[in-house]
Amino acid sequence: MPIINRIADFQDDMIAWRRDLHAHPETAFEEHRTAGVVAAKLEEFGIEVHRGLAGTGVVGTLSNGDGPTIGLRADMDALHIPEANAFDHRSTREGKMHACGHDGHTAMLLGAARYLAETRNFKGTVRFIFQPAEETEGGGQLMVDEGLFDKLPVESVFGMHNWPGRPAGHFAIRPGPIMAAADTFDITVKGKGSHAAMPHLSRDPVVAGAAIVTALQTIASRVTDPLDSVVVSVTQFHGGDAYNVIPAEVELRGTARSFRTGAQETMEAAMVRLAEGVAAAHGVAVKVAYRRRYPSVVNHAAETEVARRVAAEIAGPENVDGDPTPSMGAEDFSFMLNERPGCYIWIGNGPGEGGCILHNPHYDFNDEILTTGASYWARLAETVLGEAAQAETVREGTSR
Ligand code: NI
Repeated sequence: MPIINRIADFQDDMIAWRRDLHAHPETAFEEHRTAGVVAAKLEEFGIEVHRGLAGTGVVGTLSNGDGPTIGLRADMDALHIPEANAFDHRSTREGKMHACGHDGHTAMLLGAARYLAETRNFKGTVRFIFQPAEETEGGGQLMVDEGLFDKLPVESVFGMHNWPGRPAGHFAIRPGPIMAAADTFDITVKGKGSHAAMPHLSRDPVVAGAAIVTALQTIASRVTDPLDSVVVSVTQFHGGDAYNVIPAEVELRGTARSFRTGAQETMEAAMVRLAEGVAAAHGVAVKVAYRRRYPSVVNHAAETEVARRVAAEIAGPENVDGDPTPSMGAEDFSFMLNERPGCYIWIGNGPGEGGCILHNPHYDFNDEILTTGASYWARLAETVLGEAAQAETVREGTSR
C-alpha cells in the first residue's frame, strides 16, 4: 500500500492531535504540555525519547539495524497573538495562538513517527527533533549549543514549513538560500531636550532620528550590490511624552535581512556609518547596537535533490515548484543546517486569502495537508536510509 494511503488511514488521529495542540498553544520555552504530549505519543509508538535539550525540546530515536542517521525537525511553539477564530479548537490560552502552523508541523512529524515505527522499512536511525522557541527566541540554536548533534548525532537534517498562498499539499524547494538572515538593531540618539517653542535651545533627537531613518533607506538602494537581496526596516521609533517638549533622547529599532554574509557585513557597516554621520551633522550623539540573530537558511545541493525527488513522488512532479522565490522571512532551522547538510522545504497550506496568512489572528493550519506532509517525512526517511542500505547490499554483493 502506498505510504500516503497507510498514513491517510490515521488522518483522523493526526487531525485530533493537531487540534488539541492548537487549542493549547504555548510560547517560547514554555512548551511543557506540548513536549509532554509529544513524548507520550513517541513512547506509545515504541520510540526512545530524549528530553531536556533547550528545556522543552524532545527528540525521538527510532533505530532499525545498522545504517546512516537522519534528523527530521518540527517546531512546537506558538505566538503571542490573541486568536480571532471561533471554531471549536480555537485557543484556550488568552493572548496566545498557533498562528504559524507549528501545531501542524508537530502533528505531521508525529504521524511520520507512527508510520515509521509500525513499518520499519529502512536501515539505520531516524531522529525526530521537536524543537521549542522557533519564533524569535532561537530554540534551534539552543538545541545545537546544548549538544544536540553531539549527544544525538545525525548525518543529515531536514525541515519543513507550511506556506499559505501555495496550493494545499504542493511542495516548493530549491537548493541554496531559501530564507534570509534576520538581524536586529537598536539606535539610540541622544541630543538635548528643550521647550518645544524654543527649538534653538535643543539638539533635537527627533529630527536627527527621522534623518537617520531616511538615510538608512539608501543601504538597499545605494550601498549593497543590487543583485544582493537586503531589507532594512525601522519598525519602532520611541521618544518623548509631551506635546510641547522636545525630548533629550529617542530610540529606533528594527530588523535587517540578507542572504550573503558579505551583504550582511556591508549592511551593518553602512548602518553605523550613516547613523554616526547623520548624528554628527545634527550635533547629537548616537549609538548603534547591531545583533546578528538567525543566519540564512541555505539548502545543500545533494540533500535538496533527494528531498525534491521524494516530494515529487508524494505530491506528483507537477505539484513541486523546484524554483520558488526565496523569502526574506527567517527560520532558526539555519542553525541546524549550518551544522549538518540538509534541506528545508515548504508545503502549501492552501489559499492565503481571508486572513489565512502566517502570524495572523485568523490563521489556521490546513488539516488536509497533514497526510501529505507526514508522507513526505516518512518517504524521505525510507529513501535516505533505504538507498544507503541498498548501496551497502550492492557493496556486499560485489565483494562476494
Ligand atoms: Ni513558523
